Amino acid sequence: MIKIIHSYWAYLVLFFLLIAVYRAISCTILKKEYNPKMFRVALITLIVSHIQILIAFLLYFTSNRFLLWFDLGLVEIIKTPIHRMYLVEHPIINIIAVIFITVGYSKHKKNRLSAQKYKTLALYYSVALVLILSRIPWSVWPN
Ligand code: HEM
Repeated sequence: MIKIIHSYWAYLVLFFLLIAVYRAISCTILKKEYNPKMFRVALITLIVSHIQILIAFLLYFTSNRFLLWFDLGLVEIIKTPIHRMYLVEHPIINIIAVIFITVGYSKHKKNRLSAQKYKTLALYYSVALVLILSRIPWSVWPN
């Protein structure tokens, strides 16, 4: 059940993150005035990504995979690509990605000029997008 929620919530995260990155980059290039639409998309992206982290922690600690830490130990997990992916790389890289979203959001709020706000969002949210895309288990998602 939690796995299904985590899987579907990923669509929401990617959907809003893609819109936010597209808007931030295009408004930077077109030198647009900062507008409430950008603020809304940036905020919704922040919220849905934080909710995904909460769901993810529930999934992580309740999944059978987590027991592999006790059965196999760190060295075996690191040596096995599938376990390394789900137990180490996917969680750590995605947490870093959400930190980028959080820092980008709060920095852009503090910026005074429209150009600075868009540039900050474009940079931090793009890095987050690349990180998330780099650690999605594409062999099983979307299915
Ligand atoms: C924005 C952040 C994240 C996104 C977009 C994301 C996305 C995904 C996707 C698309 C899957 C594949 C689901 C499927 O098989 O249908 C998955 C699996 C998984 N994720 Fe995440 N994830 C994120 C963060 C995290 C974090 C932070 C953790 C751990 C703390 C985590 C733990 C897991 C685990 C354990 C699975 C494998 C479930 C299983 O097959 O048993 N995820 N994630």
